[in-house]
Amino acid sequence: MVDMSKNDVLRNVLDKIKPKKEERELMDRFVSKVNETAESIGKVYSVKPMLCGSVAKNTWISNKFELDMFLLFTPSTSRKILEERGLEIAEKIIKELNGSFEKKYSEHPYLCATIKFENVKFDVDIVPCYDIKELKKIKSSVDRTPHHVRFVKKNLLLPDDARFLKQFCKAAGIYGADVKTNGFSGYLCELLIINYGKFENCVKAASKWRAPAVVTITNMNKEKLAKTYKVPLIVIDPVDANRNVAAAVSIENFYKFVEASKKFVTNPSEKLFFSDKIKPYSVDEIEKRIENRGTRWYAVRFDKPKVVDDILYPQMRRCEN
Ligand code: UTP
Ligand code: MN
Ligand code: MN
Repeated sequence: MVDMSKNDVLRNVLDKIKPKKEERELMDRFVSKVNETAESIGKVYSVKPMLCGSVAKNTWISNKFELDMFLLFTPSTSRKILEERGLEIAEKIIKELNGSFEKKYSEHPYLCATIKFENVKFDVDIVPCYDIKELKKIKSSVDRTPHHVRFVKKNLLLPDDARFLKQFCKAAGIYGADVKTNGFSGYLCELLIINYGKFENCVKAASKWRAPAVVTITNMNKEKLAKTYKVPLIVIDPVDANRNVAAAVSIENFYKFVEASKKFVTNPSEKLFFSDKIKPYSVDEIEKRIENRGTRWYAVRFDKPKVVDDILYPQMRRCEN
């Protein structure tokens, strides 16, 4: 078999991860609707909604129907009021859109909604933050997000390449800066593309990384930064020079990224973007396999559904029979 060229691989990947016209139009309609609702409810409180996240930055991946709507409060608002009003406004927006929600916590509490629109389920994070013009006065990390969005919109020339990098990290199991993953956030992927220009250049550079690797979009003293941060990957936030955007990346995930990058450089393949999914057997196949074993003993394991025991156990016994 002839190895596919980098370009062929990337073209096939893009076809799978870049939202097509129909999907983009659906997203546009939903964004308008959420925006209008948030505007009219926010106006009563002098709060401005701002679409953030990958939909605003044009780096979202096909079939991920998720929006990040930020509610911008004037900095003179007390933290208590911001939290209370933030949730109140978010709840009103969600009710107006017939959605359901769950409360989550990062630096402030925020709501994570599920809203059905044109038969598609959207996840919408509604996050209150301060509208801070002067970056030095930033109060919490969510306040940086609107600045990140503006920076990426202005400086990311190839959003599709950020999509490649996000998908590449997903397949390696290292996408997400949450404590569970300890990996690469969407914003980190976008910054790496801004810095290296395009996906291929980024992985080419990463294939040669040794910890600590230091990336600064503006000119900074890298040796000094390596000493200051003492983590495997240091990517200085162009919006706030005192912050390492890659702070969450663990040493294991750093080298997983280096390894995957080496693989792409030496042997580019779609497998590096889509981890192998387990394909379930058909009923015919199951019967054949049980027969081939020559025994009638077998075990089926699956997650416990959210059902009370009094219902679950009788059901399982019937099923077992
Ligand atoms: P997301 O995790 O949704 O990332 O956070 P994203 O860039 O939109 O990428 P995908 O495509 O969904 O994976 C959106 C923004 O909201 C901020 C993050 O910093 C990010 O810039 N955020 C998110 C918080 O500040 N706190 C949170 O709890 C969640
Ligand atoms: Mn998002
Ligand atoms: Mn989100």
